[in-house]
Amino acid sequence: MPLLDEVEALRKEAEKAILAAAAREDLESARVEFLGRSGKLKDLMGRIREVPPELKKAAGQRLNAVKSGLESLFADRKRALSAGESAARPQPDPTLPGRTQPLGTIHPLTQALERFAGVFERLGFTVRQGPEIEDAFHNFDALNMPDDHPVRDQADTFVLEDDAILRSQTSTVQIRVMEEHVKRYGGGAEMPPIRIVAPGRTYRPDAVDATHHYSFSQIEGLAVDRGVTMADLKGFLGMFARETFGPEVKTRFRPSFFPFTEPSAEMDVSCVFCGGKGCRVCKRQGWVELGGCGMVDPNVFDAVGIDSELFTGFAFGFGIERVAMFMLGVDDIRRFTENDLRFLRQF
Ligand code: DAH
Repeated sequence: MPLLDEVEALRKEAEKAILAAAAREDLESARVEFLGRSGKLKDLMGRIREVPPELKKAAGQRLNAVKSGLESLFADRKRALSAGESAARPQPDPTLPGRTQPLGTIHPLTQALERFAGVFERLGFTVRQGPEIEDAFHNFDALNMPDDHPVRDQADTFVLEDDAILRSQTSTVQIRVMEEHVKRYGGGAEMPPIRIVAPGRTYRPDAVDATHHYSFSQIEGLAVDRGVTMADLKGFLGMFARETFGPEVKTRFRPSFFPFTEPSAEMDVSCVFCGGKGCRVCKRQGWVELGGCGMVDPNVFDAVGIDSELFTGFAFGFGIERVAMFMLGVDDIRRFTENDLRFLRQF
């Protein structure tokens, strides 16, 4: 077949392949096959040598024309294919609102604990924490609750093994902090004062209902110095109450008993909703109980090695759930631990 006929056949074949290419990969293999460096067109160009001299020029021109024709057809097809591809692909709609990442919030009990602790921090107290798995010494003995004390009944504590129990009160942190303090400074004349609060979870094997749970939160406080009196206790706790519940709130101290304080009291604050007159929220009481407090019993100082002739102190332990329920209008203590987002999202 004369070369020019071959060129014509190749042109047709190449045009067909380029136009038939349905995807970029097909088009690229057509390009390699016909227009590539060792492609069919290049082959034919090499054969110009065979052409008689008087026809060489015409053959060369023809080959070049076919080559540039195929190249522009290839470029057109390439453009068409990529336009088609992007038309098929879903286009981003810049007018759509962005997708928001839901941010968590702080659990209402943690909020309450942080708020309480924050007020005490501004009053000069340091926040300390202690372990939830405790031993009997820190949970009972050092707190003046001897072995035969009724509260030490195994039924009143979660016993893990041997001497490992779940703490039933955050008062354990009082002991741990005082031990550490005595280790560092000694419990005598050189000892600097202590002022700490300890927020955290506690455990008691209580039957669960709307107002009781086997796990609940407390914030413990301890202030030890020379000459600390009940007036300091009432002054500090009164300031705490006004800072936390508002300047109008009234406080009330009722005589009570705890083994680790003498004297002991229960502290109430007036209902923030009715100002103490009695309403539905405070169940007509006018008062809400915060928790216990009192002057540190000298036996507790003895247990940790603080000189009880030199030092006195006050301590307190407030329950968080009940106050949070009251302040937030929550009707059931179980809501706090059910992890129901519909509940948690409200705070
Ligand atoms: N630990 C007590 C309880 O769980 C609360 C308490 C009362 C703590 C009086 C104190 C305190 O520090 O002085 O019932």
